[in-house]
Amino acid sequence: MSQIAFGRASGWKEAQLTYIVNESCIKCKYMDCVEVCPVDCFYEGENMLVIHPDECIDCGVCEPECPVDAIKPDTEPGLEKWLEINTQYAEVWPNITVKRDPPPDAKDWEGKPDKANLFSQNPGCGD
Ligand code: SF4
Ligand code: F3S
Repeated sequence: MSQIAFGRASGWKEAQLTYIVNESCIKCKYMDCVEVCPVDCFYEGENMLVIHPDECIDCGVCEPECPVDAIKPDTEPGLEKWLEINTQYAEVWPNITVKRDPPPDAKDWEGKPDKANLFSQNPGCGD
């Protein structure tokens, strides 16, 4: 996680930045993202990946690699829930740095709404 300082009337405040994976990844899990991360900070669940916010250096390289646009900077509004999920599960799921085949039905889940209900807490296999 990188840090920036910005000025406010009340003084200086530090904000922590990271990228996160959101629900668009669920059941698609293409894993193109893991191949490009310079600090190997992706962690694998049964049906999605997460980013470790304390390890991410906020380089942004992974964002355009995801075919379903599931990777976002946490500065975008409405991502608080997914920042929490990334933070929590990056601590317990295994690290993944090598892309494998995506799920056979990944295409069917692209852009489907309300995938958050399908989130699995189970870990993936990792490398
Ligand atoms: Fe890795 Fe950079 Fe993506 Fe963070 S923004 S997860 S460091 S590739
Ligand atoms: Fe998920 Fe996209 Fe990576 S679908 S596994 S965030 S390439």
